[in-house]
Amino acid sequence: MKIFGIFGDPIEHSLSPVMQNAAFRALGQEACYHAFRVSRECLEDALIGAAAMGFGGLNLTIPLKEKALELDILQPDELAEAIGAVNTVSFGRNQRIVGHNTDGEGALQAMKDAAISLRHSKVLLIGAGGAARAIAYSLKNEGAEILVANRNAKKADELAASVGGLGFGLCDLGQLVLQSDIIINATSVGMKDGDPSLFDGRLLRRGQVVFDIVYNRETELLKAARLAGAVAIDGVMMLVYQGAKSLEIWTGLKAPVHVMEKAVRDGLKERR
Ligand code: ATR
Repeated sequence: MKIFGIFGDPIEHSLSPVMQNAAFRALGQEACYHAFRVSRECLEDALIGAAAMGFGGLNLTIPLKEKALELDILQPDELAEAIGAVNTVSFGRNQRIVGHNTDGEGALQAMKDAAISLRHSKVLLIGAGGAARAIAYSLKNEGAEILVANRNAKKADELAASVGGLGFGLCDLGQLVLQSDIIINATSVGMKDGDPSLFDGRLLRRGQVVFDIVYNRETELLKAARLAGAVAIDGVMMLVYQGAKSLEIWTGLKAPVHVMEKAVRDGLKERR
């Protein structure tokens, strides 16, 4: 039995275990996938432990994706290095710990499924953490014009500069929303019940696209987008596609995407 898992903090909300266990079952693999609460400070020890115990692979989530790159024990592949964040870990020969990133491809596939065209679109990306970095990298490759807004405006400036865009603080959000074709929330705001909207949802209009990477509940942002007649995309398919790509890295098998999507949607229904 191979052990897989996800490290993060908080981690209770994660549907990755339900999704990956369903995939392993469908593929007839002797494997199980658990969620582990791991803080930034403990990431290095936890990775060394997982390697020593022969884990098959890991996902990393908030707040570990960028921290992983600071560790000498982890070697990022080219994509993770370029993005500046790791969401997938594989273990090679001699307990070699390799960092990958599947978030950007996952987000891109989710937008493609919804027939969103990115080329020459003005995209407002809110957030500058690990997930935002991966999405920014994909947006750049697709030829989008990128505006990055983040609570920590310096981080927004840095991320924007790395993808040829412009950086802002959250106080500029109102006017940025008005001038954008596509608005992406890549922060954790909206994950918790009672989280406020990042900006006044009444600024949204028909014809805009709103993509919120939060998947565990319908956020105030997506509610406002639907009310305004904008296209609203939640984080479910990004979760599914990034997980599918992680599984393909670990096993070399083709991921059963539909099984994974059903497991996530059933898991969400059970929680409601
Ligand atoms: P992930 O790996 O999922 O991207 P992360 O790297 O911890 O997680 O990034 C979280 C993002 O959510 C960051 O952009 C963070 O803003 P800061 O860089 O200013 O910390 C953003 N975020 C978290 N809580 C927030 C809040 N209450 N208001 C606004 N932004 C928030």
